[in-house]
Amino acid sequence: MKIDILTLFPEMFTGVLNSSILKKAQDKGAVEYRVTDFRDFAENKHRKVDDYPYGGGAGMVLTPQPLFDAVEALKGDTKHERRRVILMCPQGERLTQRKLEELSEEDHLIFLCGHYEGYDERIREHLVTDEISIGDYVLTGGELASMVVIDGVTRLLPEVLGNEESAKQDSHSSGLLEHPHYTRPADFRGMKVPDVLLSGDHAKIEKWRQRQSLKRTYERRPDLIEFENLSTEEQRFLKSSKEDEE
Ligand code: ADE
Repeated sequence: MKIDILTLFPEMFTGVLNSSILKKAQDKGAVEYRVTDFRDFAENKHRKVDDYPYGGGAGMVLTPQPLFDAVEALKGDTKHERRRVILMCPQGERLTQRKLEELSEEDHLIFLCGHYEGYDERIREHLVTDEISIGDYVLTGGELASMVVIDGVTRLLPEVLGNEESAKQDSHSSGLLEHPHYTRPADFRGMKVPDVLLSGDHAKIEKWRQRQSLKRTYERRPDLIEFENLSTEEQRFLKSSKEDEE
């Protein structure tokens, strides 16, 4: 996959793209990142990329020309590849694991990151395919938000995570939160690992994990569960574990 980032602050990406899994993904050839300062595409003498809003008001607005030209240049002559042009902004659709999975199927992602300013509406209407928000809060720019999306997409690409299974078992990819994990020692200062995990009975362990996953989701994120769609056994389990706590 090719990932292009258009920003006025390219230095913000250096550490993130060159560390840990994102670095490994590049080394393996699974992904190629390219960070471009779109000020380089401004056609005016002072390399200005924003201007005052028509109709007045506070703040500056990013002008269409540098971003349109930059995106066209980055597209190159690869007309037929699967590509998205993604605008990071608080008004966008809220990011989910489902969206990351969808984006991980593409060949080329181009992220547009504004800082302080608004975007001229023609960028939204005629250049962008997706607008994404990482949550209902406002950051100083789209850079950190785009790094969140890039991280989440990269780890889903084939062969990026060593163990193929580990992405599938994550919180959210199954629709539920992940079950608890334990490692040695079996008894740490009197805090014990649940017996079932030491039993060696894999079917029992799997069942315990599924139930813990369901319980944790029900307690922390009930909005992710349709109680009526659970099996009678699952409903009974949740009710009894709630009663146990009361
Ligand atoms: N830019 C500023 N705030 C943002 C947010 N919450 N998500 C995406 N981009 C943003």
